[in-house]
Amino acid sequence: MKIICVAGARPNFMKIAPLMAAFKARPPIEPFLVHTGQHYDEKMSDLFFRQLGIPTPDVNLGVGSGSHAVQTAQVMTLFEPVVLEHKPAAVLVVGDVNSTIACGLVAVKLGVKLIHVEAGLRSFDKAMPEEINRLLTDAISDMLFCTEHSGVENLEHEGVPKEKIFLVGNVMIDTLLANRDKAEKSPILDDLKLKSGSYGVLTLHRPSNVDDPVALGRLLDAIEVVQKDIPIIFPIHPRTRKNLSQSALGKRLDSMTNLRLIDPAGYLDFLKLTANACVVLTDSGGIQEETTILKVPCLTMRESTERPITAELGSNRVVGTDPQAIIAAWRDIQSGKMRPPQIPPMWDGKAAQRIAEILAEKLA
Ligand code: UD1
Repeated sequence: MKIICVAGARPNFMKIAPLMAAFKARPPIEPFLVHTGQHYDEKMSDLFFRQLGIPTPDVNLGVGSGSHAVQTAQVMTLFEPVVLEHKPAAVLVVGDVNSTIACGLVAVKLGVKLIHVEAGLRSFDKAMPEEINRLLTDAISDMLFCTEHSGVENLEHEGVPKEKIFLVGNVMIDTLLANRDKAEKSPILDDLKLKSGSYGVLTLHRPSNVDDPVALGRLLDAIEVVQKDIPIIFPIHPRTRKNLSQSALGKRLDSMTNLRLIDPAGYLDFLKLTANACVVLTDSGGIQEETTILKVPCLTMRESTERPITAELGSNRVVGTDPQAIIAAWRDIQSGKMRPPQIPPMWDGKAAQRIAEILAEKLA
């Protein structure tokens, strides 16, 4: 029962890692790993494979960067012959990146069953490329695995038959829990001369936040204030670095002496950094989930979240992009105004095992 598992971009790697391990341990499932090459830098890709013990991909399509159309088309063109050659029982895609929809489309058009892990999440903001990828992938999937109840409700509302939907928990959290002890040994706090609980972490890479200098400048207005209170560590995404270097904003960062830019961090260093931070400011999806498990206050600088459970139960607050709102939320954290966070149901480190059991039974 060969299942082609697809990973393309950084947030896919922590999702595919526990699935590969669970599939290998669950005959007759035979996992076959395809890396599309959407992310290719050592620090955006290979480092994650090594740290998370992900097997070397059976195939790397090596597509690299490009416009949405070019990248998606390249993945499709190169993935089709792989599916034709290996005749899998199913193709499994994770998350919401361009590689997800591209490989999904190839699979269904060849009549191969499509499995989507992390299905049903909706920001209801179609200006986000990820929202389009999520909607389209779910519309063509045969088996849809959800991380939280909102995912199930969204899919049912869109008319997906109940028997295709499975609430199984969160594979990204499987990886976090499996690597927590290892991450504690990371020397990153010593290297950066940081004390646990005394600094913040910042990540920014959403096109809506970083491609427009005005939008990015507004976020920096807020960061400028927060970094006067605590050091802020900013592992910077290549997209954001490129945009900063091409605008006058790069110079503005130089005047923020407590904002410390570092290269994209590996998984273990980043986990250690977030686990010990007093606040995380982000526009990422996955980091909202990771801070929820870690019970670290997270300020999500976006107008919406596709992961509402992190704000309903967890330590996440969706603050938007208005500088005054971000600063006010930071003041609340400083003064200890937070309700005690809770862990969402089934975020227990066993999601990949549940998926493997269901697939072994249903695909047989
Ligand atoms: C992609 C995903 C996004 C995810 C993010 C995580 C889509 C539509 N977007 O966005 O959902 O949250 O990954 O990082 O799939 N680059 C490098 N080295 C790399 C990869 C990219 O320098 O290894 C640079 C290139 O200049 C590239 C740019 O980053 O043009 C953007 O990369 P791309 O894969 O298009 O999108 P991301 O912004 O990374």
